[in-house]
Amino acid sequence: MVEYSLAVIAGDGVGPEVVAEGRKTLEALAGSGGPGFRFTEFPWGSAFYRETGRLMPEDGLELLSGFDAILFGAVGDPEIPDHITLHGLLLPMRRGFDQGVCVRPAYLYPGVTSPLSGKQAGDIDMVIFRENTEGEYAPVGGRLNVGTAYETVIQSNVFTRRGTERIIRAAFEHCLLRQRRNPGRRSKVTSVTKSNAQSFGMVFWDEVFGEVAAEYPQVETESLLVDRACMDFVRWPEDFDVVVASNLFADILSDIAAVVSGSMGLAPSANINPGREHPSLFEPVHGAAFDIMGKGIANPLATISAVAMMLDHLGEPAAAARVEAAVARCLEERRVLTADLGGGASTAEMGDEAARLVAGG
Ligand code: NAI
Ligand code: MG
Repeated sequence: MVEYSLAVIAGDGVGPEVVAEGRKTLEALAGSGGPGFRFTEFPWGSAFYRETGRLMPEDGLELLSGFDAILFGAVGDPEIPDHITLHGLLLPMRRGFDQGVCVRPAYLYPGVTSPLSGKQAGDIDMVIFRENTEGEYAPVGGRLNVGTAYETVIQSNVFTRRGTERIIRAAFEHCLLRQRRNPGRRSKVTSVTKSNAQSFGMVFWDEVFGEVAAEYPQVETESLLVDRACMDFVRWPEDFDVVVASNLFADILSDIAAVVSGSMGLAPSANINPGREHPSLFEPVHGAAFDIMGKGIANPLATISAVAMMLDHLGEPAAAARVEAAVARCLEERRVLTADLGGGASTAEMGDEAARLVAGG
């Protein structure tokens, strides 16, 4: 039997609560003829920082490098500044493992109500491709004369041809795949920038988008400014198919896409190392969710859908389809739902239900 090695970093806040349910899904899969997983837990995050002064050990990436994949929960602590937690754990993994392609689907499932009126199941069905290693999140900049009247702060954006071309090409390739899977559907790639204001990096992005688009004449394209795109995500989200944007813009857009599709607790994210030299990382889009952590009410389906994306990446499409089908059935049947979807179930109860459905219940 195949057995994959999985590094598990549950992290902070609701991370451990939802990652436990992701593991449950994988155990249910293994118990019913699916691929097996060997789990190794890494207790990194804010508690580790309090003990050691670091979010992860200095050789953290080396420790992870031999694994087939990483399952991640969230990082963030009410008492530790967010830039320390994010730059101490998640961003070094995305950069160090060259996970330049972040894939974030948003789908309005049958059984789920969008906060936007009149949206039916399937009306929202988009995939956001987020550049994941550079752009606005590159740790390039500095502070001079701190605390004085002459204080000067520089935060630079980094756009490389390699990184920009790679994410845009990945978006086009995915659009072709969606066309093949669903030939009747209108398909297009939307690029989102702010090139009217950011006249170096974003103008460069637009140029690369034009060059790559020319290689895909069969794909419809569109370019939007980010403020307009935010508006359109709310007023006509059905208009989007594949969306490609920089690190910051796609981060913001993927939260909008998640909430208009019913809940932050449903949106998965795959951080892919396209060259497969390093492990890829799978996680929910949401963060530590301070307002609900410790209550056992976080929706685990974002993490379980991320597990499905991981199975697909590992070359287990049948197992991925079983997990996706379990998520869809759990939502459509509406028997066991967490509070964000109008139910009264706990995280563990919803995870049990998903596991039961995965096992063929
Ligand atoms: P958040 O994503 O943690 O929460 C936003 C809202 O969505 C909250 O109202 C929360 O209750 C809700 N929500 C999130 N996950 C949910 C789930 N599974 N089920 C039901 N509702 C859910 O974003 P926020 O509040 O901006 O950030 C909190 C902390 O998390 C901060 O420290 C931030 O830096 C960190 N963060 C970490 C991320 C990561 O590790 N990938 C991503 C985003 C934020
Ligand atoms: Mg985010």
